[in-house]
Amino acid sequence: MNASIAQQAPPAPLDINWVRAQFPSLKLAVNGHSAAFLDAPAGTQVPQRVIAAFREYFETSNANTVGQFLTSRRTDEMIVAARSAMADLFNCTSDEVFFGPNMTTLTFALARGIGRDLKPGDEIVVTTLDHDGNVAPWRALEDIGVVLRQVDIREADCTLDMDDLRCKITPRTKLVAAGYASNAVGTINPVAEIVRLAHEAGALAFIDAVHYAPHGLIDVRALDCDFLACSPYKFFGPHMGCIYGKRDLLLRFRPYKVRPAPAYLPDRWETGTQVHEGLAGVTAAIDYLADLGRHADPAAEDRRAALVIAYRVIRQHEMVLAARMIAGLLKIPGVRFYGISDAARFDERCPTVAVRVRDLTPLDCARFLGDRGIFTWDGNYYALNLTERLGVEKTGGLLRIGLVHYNTAEEVDRLLTAMRELASPA
Ligand SMILES: Cc1ncc(COP(=O)(O)O)c(C=O)c1O
Repeated sequence: MNASIAQQAPPAPLDINWVRAQFPSLKLAVNGHSAAFLDAPAGTQVPQRVIAAFREYFETSNANTVGQFLTSRRTDEMIVAARSAMADLFNCTSDEVFFGPNMTTLTFALARGIGRDLKPGDEIVVTTLDHDGNVAPWRALEDIGVVLRQVDIREADCTLDMDDLRCKITPRTKLVAAGYASNAVGTINPVAEIVRLAHEAGALAFIDAVHYAPHGLIDVRALDCDFLACSPYKFFGPHMGCIYGKRDLLLRFRPYKVRPAPAYLPDRWETGTQVHEGLAGVTAAIDYLADLGRHADPAAEDRRAALVIAYRVIRQHEMVLAARMIAGLLKIPGVRFYGISDAARFDERCPTVAVRVRDLTPLDCARFLGDRGIFTWDGNYYALNLTERLGVEKTGGLLRIGLVHYNTAEEVDRLLTAMRELASPA
């Protein structure tokens, strides 16, 4: 977490009734229980305005781009608006943001483009804590002789081993690929420090902010990262992916693209026709977050300022819930907790936790909870390096419980009651 944001109190507490009223799907029921969506790390629910944006796009603007007629012009304007919204979320300019179907596909495309300028023996640093979407695209460059070096974790608290990171960066390192936050155990990495270390060695820094984006404000200028990826479907938007890149780098590296497609930014990195309705939804999701900020502080001057406030409000709400959940889980005999559990260090985590329960498989646990209307995940969630390193991959991975700002204390208490039942010997 960016320390200055974590430390500043929000102007007003999160208005949970206002928030929940925005999300129609939160009213779902399962077997007579209202649904508790604790599955956000795999994708969040969307506010009504995102649904409305899809519908409005199809009803009023559906066309391909740069045509000389109404719907095409509206599509062009809608794309400009989506880039501008995303630029406000990242704190960059609109031409430094490109979209695509998801983070993984975009990262493969970017890595392949960067790989055209690499030679055998060049090194890329990846980590044990990362989702494979920030590992496999770089590992694919082994085909051209690039050497991958993988940074280990400290097993006791599932944090990155920064000493190991310093060792793994060498004069041959061309790029360091690290996550902002772990989608499995919730650790927030010291990304500014990672970027600094990469730059000191003359390497580029690629940050995967997919898991961080619903929880914390992103500021690519302050971070000085070279690339940063995230996926709108993890922050209350549609199933899409997005990457920020510094302008000079996006122009210097050469994407694989069709010849008639534009060579200018950001279009040169957007292969083929975009998911236009999804882009309309991205703007709506970011405007929702900005309105959450304005709801707490109507004086917010512009969208970026409103987003800054929104994330303060979100962070405070989430971490009160996380503290309640973690304290409750730690008290349950038979629950093994992975990751940071010391409340004094919660600035280093987001409200995503991973546990094992007695000798049960995470699949059995997730099913037990799912039958009671509590949605969680089991397995590795593609953080395969981590589940292998922790020795849980062969026995079903981990049970992941992920909170976001639309969750409530009542849902946390329901989870804890169900977990106590699950963990009690038969
Ligand atoms: C941390 C992290 N990185 C990358 C990804 C991949 O994102 P996408 O589904 O957009 O390819 C995910 C998805 O769960 C993730 O949690």
